[in-house]
Amino acid sequence: MRNHSLFNDNWLFSAQKLSLDAPDDHFTAVTLPHTNKIFDHSNVNNQAYQFISTYRKKFSWQQSPDEENKLIFLDFDGVMLACEVYLNGRFLLNHLGGYAPFSVDITHHLQDGENCLTLHVDSRERKDIPPYGHLVDYLTFGGIYRDVYLRQVNPTHIDNIFVQTTNVVQHPRLTAEIRLSRLKPNLTLEASLVDAAGQEVASLQQPVAAQTNRLAWADLPDVVLWSTETPTLYTIQVTLWENGRLLDTLTTRFGFRQAEFRADGRFYLNNAPLPLFGLNRHQTYPYIGAAAPARLQRQDADILKYELACNVVRTSHYPQSPHFLDRCDEIGLLVFEEIAGWQHVGDEKWQALCLDELETMIERDRNHPSIILWGVRVNESGDNDDFYTRTNALAHQLDPTRQTGGVRDFLGSSFLEDVYTHNDFSNGVRTPTEQPHLITEFAGHMFPTKIWDHEERLIDHALLHAKIHNLQLGHAQIAGAIGWCAFDYATHIEFGSGDRICYHGVMDIFRLPKWAAAFYQSQQDPAQKVVLQAATHWTMGDRAGGGNNPIHVFSNCDEVEIIIGEINVGRFQPNFAQYPNLPHPPFTIGGLDAYSAWGQSQFYDLRLIGYLNGQAVAEQRIASNRLPKRLELTTDTSQLYADGADMTRLIVRITDEFGNPLPYATKVVTFKLDGDAELVGENPFPLIGGQAALYVKARHQPGAVTVRACAPGMMDTAVSLTIIPAPPLDNRQIL
Ligand code: GAL
Repeated sequence: MRNHSLFNDNWLFSAQKLSLDAPDDHFTAVTLPHTNKIFDHSNVNNQAYQFISTYRKKFSWQQSPDEENKLIFLDFDGVMLACEVYLNGRFLLNHLGGYAPFSVDITHHLQDGENCLTLHVDSRERKDIPPYGHLVDYLTFGGIYRDVYLRQVNPTHIDNIFVQTTNVVQHPRLTAEIRLSRLKPNLTLEASLVDAAGQEVASLQQPVAAQTNRLAWADLPDVVLWSTETPTLYTIQVTLWENGRLLDTLTTRFGFRQAEFRADGRFYLNNAPLPLFGLNRHQTYPYIGAAAPARLQRQDADILKYELACNVVRTSHYPQSPHFLDRCDEIGLLVFEEIAGWQHVGDEKWQALCLDELETMIERDRNHPSIILWGVRVNESGDNDDFYTRTNALAHQLDPTRQTGGVRDFLGSSFLEDVYTHNDFSNGVRTPTEQPHLITEFAGHMFPTKIWDHEERLIDHALLHAKIHNLQLGHAQIAGAIGWCAFDYATHIEFGSGDRICYHGVMDIFRLPKWAAAFYQSQQDPAQKVVLQAATHWTMGDRAGGGNNPIHVFSNCDEVEIIIGEINVGRFQPNFAQYPNLPHPPFTIGGLDAYSAWGQSQFYDLRLIGYLNGQAVAEQRIASNRLPKRLELTTDTSQLYADGADMTRLIVRITDEFGNPLPYATKVVTFKLDGDAELVGENPFPLIGGQAALYVKARHQPGAVTVRACAPGMMDTAVSLTIIPAPPLDNRQIL
């Protein structure tokens, strides 16, 4: 049987390239995922992660008789950017590339008793490895930044399962392509199809005829389709027998769904057109670079779906964490996943690495129902017919069920893919010449916006996103648009603001919302969630000329009432004239000069009431006094696993009396943690935009943790968490 266990604990780390026999006291103890350097949230110096570090793990091994003849692998989910792996002093592997998983066969190098595993991790921006070779607008960071597993299998085991579902709307069919590690006589495969409730709904048995076998179900019982609204997942459990002896079992999740970009320009999910509405995501976090544990990875998917109401995300510009993709499957968030790179294609060797990574990405991810498109062109690179003919052919060969896209920032190039994926920075929407056509970026560097920018900038930023989505939704030949981008990110000096951040997110790097986020959120059906957010700091003197006229409101209500002080200004409707194609246009409410002009002696609180079908369903109040009232401290969860890596966000906000963040509250906040856990982040933190976040990170001890925050002139505040024992891998429920 197979044994698969996490191998994240008890590592040692040194920021030096140490010799294999360096004493342990030259290292510090760490748990994976790990970043080779902790940074401030901004001003990240990319030189500071560019070095060769040493990771070591000592572990004891005793081969039990029933494990005799088993193969033992170490599976690395991602090491940035290259590494050499040694076991017990012997060199085993040199891996290049930070985004693809790889495995090391350690079977013949293990010894009974203590073993010493060492990795030299090269996190320099090496020109011979994608995405490098030229400039890149993001940072790669360094370290063993994803999970590692130990896997024990029989030499004859299941190597890969590829589930294909076809014709799901009329008459669902299911094929599982099962690749074995090797062929032997007398093997049988058994496959069991299990529904979301854990019930077996179909099964099959078949003698093994070749190394790769196709198991096909022509007649299936009724199945529930996977969609963005009901993301129903099934599991296929494959068992390999040899003359009645169990050799291996492997399961994979999948969904019955049909995803297709059609020649009419639109995208169809299960035969119904679905306009794509989304944002790009970088895997960059404050402080920890890319080394985010499962909980944070999964939470990003939740933020995109539930806080930003997106139905699609692009994993710009590389394969992202399996945890992120798993969560996309579970919640019904579509994914466009692409290969690593940025505007530059290197030499033959570089291209070979890229093709390898493409193959690994597709073999790793092709069972995710959320993935609808493979990005097989280096983002915004020029035409290269030879190379891109190969990437397209490889993708189609490995996965005949999905279409390919290739992101460029111009129209009219060699169209070798199935979908013309196009970064349109015209601040409008270009009329496509190629079809099917998907806008994969807009806004971004055309309108960098900080969460503490003045109100006009924040409004215009939000309205730019509204404008482009309104235009794209009005274009019958465009399948959708994916804006640049979800979250602000750290970058190289050639791109960022003065603090090396690209302020292109609709949320900041802490995933806290700018008003553009409220625009995205407001496009959802109010049956899901009622949204009402006025895009105003409600001050007399922030805008040019002062005052607050007009007020923009992002809401999915059908009417918004404005009350200033005691005066009811009236009820207003969404601005359909300017945004006819949006499901929920912003409200543009003018005529307010009389109530809130610059220098006027009486300035009152603002109250908004949102109505649906005449019923009041939401309210927002903003205090006119603009005085810091409360210091708020919240976490995204009240429980963490005691696995040494689990983390949650600790959000701090200074708010007015109604809970609105005060963007110009620049107090210094100091945090104090009690309990066996760690604070990750700047402490004290000089607040920007009235809000920021740190992380609380669990250690290995269960117990209670309290974090207290204090700021001059404010009442202290505290939040409590419980650290609970980490359950086995298969039973973890995160979020
Ligand atoms: C695009 C690029 C993105 C990002 C964006 C900023 O050209 O593909 O990675 O740099 O610009 O707007």
